[in-house]
This record gives sequence, structure tokens and C-alpha cells, in this order.
Amino acid sequence: MKLKNWHVTLLLMLTLISCSSKKTLKIESPNNKIKVSINTTKGIYYAVNFKDAVLIKPSKLGYEFKNANPLSNNFIITDYNITQSNTKWNTTWGENSVIEDNYNQLLICLQEKDGFKRKLNLYFKVYNDGVGFRYEIPKQKNIDSILITQELTEFNFVKNHSGWYIPANFESYETLYKNASLSDIKSANTPITLETVAGNFISIHEANLTNYAGMTLKKSKGDSFSFKSDLVPWPDGVKVKTKTPMVSPWRTIQITDNAQDLVESNLILNLNEPNKIENVSWVEPMKYIGIWWGMHLGTQTWTLGKRHGATTEETKKYIDFANKHNIKGVLVEGWNTGWENWGKKDAFDFVTPYEDFNLKEVTNYATEKNIAFIGHVETGGAAQSFENKLDSIFSMYQKLGVKAVKTGYAGGIQTKGQFHHGQFMVNHYREVVKTAAKYKIMINAHEPIKPTGIRRTYPNMMTREGVRGMEWNAWSSGNPPEHYTILPFTRALAGPIDYTPGIFDILYKNAKNRVKWNDLDDGTSRVNTTLAKQLALFVILYSPMQMASDLIENYENQPAFKFIEDIPTDWEFSKMINGKIGDYIIIVRKDKNSDDWFLGSITDENKREFNIELNFLDNNKTYVAEIYTDAKTADWKTNPTEVELIKKEVTSRTNLTIKLVAGGGQAIRFSPINK
Ligand code: NOJ
Ligand code: CA
Repeated sequence: MKLKNWHVTLLLMLTLISCSSKKTLKIESPNNKIKVSINTTKGIYYAVNFKDAVLIKPSKLGYEFKNANPLSNNFIITDYNITQSNTKWNTTWGENSVIEDNYNQLLICLQEKDGFKRKLNLYFKVYNDGVGFRYEIPKQKNIDSILITQELTEFNFVKNHSGWYIPANFESYETLYKNASLSDIKSANTPITLETVAGNFISIHEANLTNYAGMTLKKSKGDSFSFKSDLVPWPDGVKVKTKTPMVSPWRTIQITDNAQDLVESNLILNLNEPNKIENVSWVEPMKYIGIWWGMHLGTQTWTLGKRHGATTEETKKYIDFANKHNIKGVLVEGWNTGWENWGKKDAFDFVTPYEDFNLKEVTNYATEKNIAFIGHVETGGAAQSFENKLDSIFSMYQKLGVKAVKTGYAGGIQTKGQFHHGQFMVNHYREVVKTAAKYKIMINAHEPIKPTGIRRTYPNMMTREGVRGMEWNAWSSGNPPEHYTILPFTRALAGPIDYTPGIFDILYKNAKNRVKWNDLDDGTSRVNTTLAKQLALFVILYSPMQMASDLIENYENQPAFKFIEDIPTDWEFSKMINGKIGDYIIIVRKDKNSDDWFLGSITDENKREFNIELNFLDNNKTYVAEIYTDAKTADWKTNPTEVELIKKEVTSRTNLTIKLVAGGGQAIRFSPINK
């Protein structure tokens, strides 16, 4: 895709430099609201002001190594420069088709005063919506191999803000978000989102996590508002094994006046490198259905047997259904042997189909019907075995016409002592994405490393789990109504989520032939939302591969399914109209390929009413609004599936009242009348 570029790079006057000494450098956002200063008098410290108040007080930077002295103090600034850039770029797919990239950058070149006189560079990019900074250890005489035992980065807040977070975990992101005062938070995975005492918003995360360990945050000793980076280790305790020249991922601090601006921030994507895949015509956002939910309910099995889900016949039914209902992809789980060896080492070979699944016949059928077959690769944590055979597996899939692969790493990583979120696995996940690109295969990763904007560079990295998704509703106490009102402000800031919404049979606890999936399943599981809220999630939770996750028989003869048929997964433009973390959200998105707009609105366990202006619509057009709403008498607990479809004409001047029942939602399609 062609980049529209009006790149302006200019060296600014050095007026921003403190005159008293060359030990302090400063840089501000283009709108001057965010100010960062870096001081090298004793060690290296950065501090951030927002709207002239201190947001982050001096916080340490630097490294400790296994094979060398710390690189953290005794520096002189040998050089620095400030550059400005204001460009726009086109996404391959996403929430927005064009993204503005407007920042000021400060590059600081440091060198130790004595000893080995090692060099360290720091990059600070300051945007109107936050700050990104990264370390660079350039190629130099005295350092070759690098064994990082500690990244010293700190985030020292000055007030007791309110945080939305999941506790740090090196293996999983599948826990419910909590809300607590900073003083009560001991550790966190990123992104962590803070609502400040002044009512502004901050989110700490990282961008372009490449050849490095994932970062978690740990409370610093003795200061209850301060956190430091805690990288996920290798089995020997070293955090990152690399060599010069090296750059770290960007440490990101998104800072916005309000919650909407945070959700609309593109800082993470802006801090990633442009698309490296030349021809992206095969990268195709899509909706998909799949042989999946039945296994989580326990009515079907992954393994061979009389309840085996992935049979040739059943898969063809799914392909026919998709073909009839404007759905592009069909995921099939349990198509290949190995499930009977679950929990054992190298249970899967990733290529041998079960005897009741004719892979060739099914993939040919999918191609004939213009449906993308989404192959499932569950590794059971055998990442290394999968990686060893990547080329041959993907080349076989490509020959069969497999367009996308859903990967999985359930259970512990089989390479002893490795964690899902350490450097070893970060590199593995990337290798999978890059190799898949060679064979024109899109990736949907489960049990992944968190997103850090890699989708910009490798647009075949479509979506991923890394969230407490729909499956938890099948075999645990489930996800509470407010879960969905937290995700857009936290996990989704990092990137798309394969949450897999769209369960219509909400009270499936009565499902026939149900067997326990695991010990968590008490047989009473259900989805803790209304049906209309399930529709609204197709707008609220962005994913370029969006699954309609229920069994197809539960979609037959359901008028509400039309919303799922109609909604696209690639957008021209997205906007949050209103939202409060943990309470409610209204998001609108404009289709990239038509003049249609879609609105999703959801609430937590409380009923709510909003009056909104439709001023986002084109003011020269009249639209039909197809409103999918919970019936007045609906309620997520007692009457979750009663849904109504109301049609009315609206314009950009219409005021629309949105009534949400407890645990409910609303989904609207706006189509121009005279297109
Ligand atoms: C967990 C994944 O999230 C889920 O989607 C998949 O069905 C199971 N693992 C089995 O691979
Ligand atoms: Ca709430």
C-alpha cells in the first residue's frame, strides 16, 4: 500500500536545552502538553509532566548485565539531536485506514566517563497522546554479547491513581481485570491503565517487542506509587540474550485528557515499523465460524469417537453455512491426530488428519465455495517441535489452500523452564508470523505473547487471544458483565482480540449430552450477557478475524444473525462516542468498503440510558438505522435472549436514545438510503 508522506524532519534550535548544564535535556509533545526531561547527573533519570503538573517524577533508566558492570551511571552526553516528524500512513487493515504520526524526538548519545567508556543511546518520542522511549546499545569495541539480568526502567508516579490491571504473570493474560489504587497494586502485566486523580488517563505498555523478553511491572520497594520493569526470564535467570547493536522495545506511556482519546490513541502502532510484506493482497480481514464451541461445551470432542466434531461431513456443513451467510472463514479444531495424547510431550505432528476427516476433500470444498479454511495448530506447548517443522507444515497447508492458521500453546511450554512471555517464545511467535507470511498464511495466535503493534510490520499477524475470552463462559464461573466494558480500555489498547463473541444460546447449561470439560466446569456455565450485547461486541471488541462463535444450528432462523452477516471487520474510521471503564461504552465505526456505519453500545450489570447525536453520519445523507436491541423486559440474568429489531430513518441531526437493560447492549447498522 502506498504511503502518503509529507515527512518533515528538521533540526530544532537548541532552545529546549537547559542552559545551566548539558546534563539535562528536554523534549515536548507537538501540542506542548506533555513534557519530558532527562537528567544524567547521577545515573540516568527521566521525568514526565502533563499539563504542567508532575505525572512521573524522576525515574531510573539503565541496565544490569550478567557479563559486565551495570550500564546506568557515570555518563557524559556526547551528542543529542531533536527532530520533528508529522506524517500519515495507511494501514493494511484495522480500526482506521489512515493514521497520523506526529511527534518530536530526542536522541541522546551517552558514553561512560571512564572505564570501558561504553556507549548507550536513548530515544524519546513525544506525541500528543503520550511518550515512547527505547534503549539502543550500538555496536562498539567493548561490548559484543549482551546478557541482560535487569532492565532498570522505572515508572514513578506521584499520586495514588486508580489502576485497571491484571497481576503480572509470565504465562497467561487470562485473568479478570481488577480495579485498585496504585498503592494496592503489587505487580501488573501490561497494558495497565490508570485513571488519574485529576481525571486524566495513562496506560503503560510496550511497542515493537522484538528479540527481547516481555515486560511486566513490579512495585518498587519503599514507594507505593512506583513501579519498575520486571522482564520475563530465561531458565537461567537471564532476561535478554542478545548482542550489539541492539534496541529495546519502546516503553510506552499513553497520556490523554479523557478515556475516549486513550481508546483512539495510535501510539503503539506508530512506534512500530512500516509493513514489510510487499504484496498484501492475500491478507484478508474476515468473519469466521468454526467447529469449536461444541468442544468447550463438552457436546463434541477434539478426539476421534462418536462425538468427534471435526468430521468431513460436519465441516462441509459449516462451509455451506458460511458461504450462505457472508462469512469468509471456517475454523476446524480437532482435525488432526494427537488430542488423545493431550498432556504428553510432542503430542501432535500437525499434519495427520483423523480418519473421519478428509483434509483434501474438505480444503477443496472450501476453495470451491470461496471459503477460507482456517487450520488449527494446537502445540500443547511443544513450540520448538512446531518451529523445527514450520516450513514443511506451512508449505503443505499452502498447497492445500489453507488461508489462515489458529495456533495454540495451551499448557506449559515444553522447553524446560521457558515461559510463554519470555524472549525464547517472543522469538518463536515472530518466527511463526514471518514463516507464515512466506506461505501467504494469516495467523490467529492463542496463548500468545501480548500484542505490541507488530501487525503494522507483519499484517498477516491478524489477531490473538491473550485475554480471558469466551471459552471461559463454557467451563468456569465465566466473565462478568463488566468484563467487556474494561477490555477496550486495557487489553485492546495493545491490539486486536480474538475474544470470539456471538453466542446466541446464552443459557446452554441445559445443553444435551453435556460432559465436564475440566474440573472448573460445575455444569451451570452460561454467558453473562444478553443476546443484543453479544451483537454489540462485534463492534466493541475489534478483531480483523472476528469469530461468530456459536454452533451454526443456534444461528438458524435467528433474525438477529443478520447483524453478524452485515458487519465488516475492516474499518475506515473508528470513534468512541462515550465510555467509562468498567461501566459502559459506545463505539461507532465506518465501513472501509461502503458508506455504512455500525454502532455498538454495552453496559455492565446496570441498566442505562444515553442520548446521543448521530453527528458522525454524513450530513448529506438519510440512513436506515437497523437497531438490534434487547427487549424492554430483557435482562442478562433472567431473560437474556429476547431481542428486537427496529428500523427507522435517521440523519446526522437525529438525537437517538439508547436504552440498555442490565447486562445488555445494542447494535446498530446505519445504511444510506440513496447510496
Ligand atoms: C485454548 C484456546 O483458546 C481455544 O480456543 C482452543 O479451542 C483450545 N485451547 C484447544 O486448542
Ligand atoms: Ca461497573
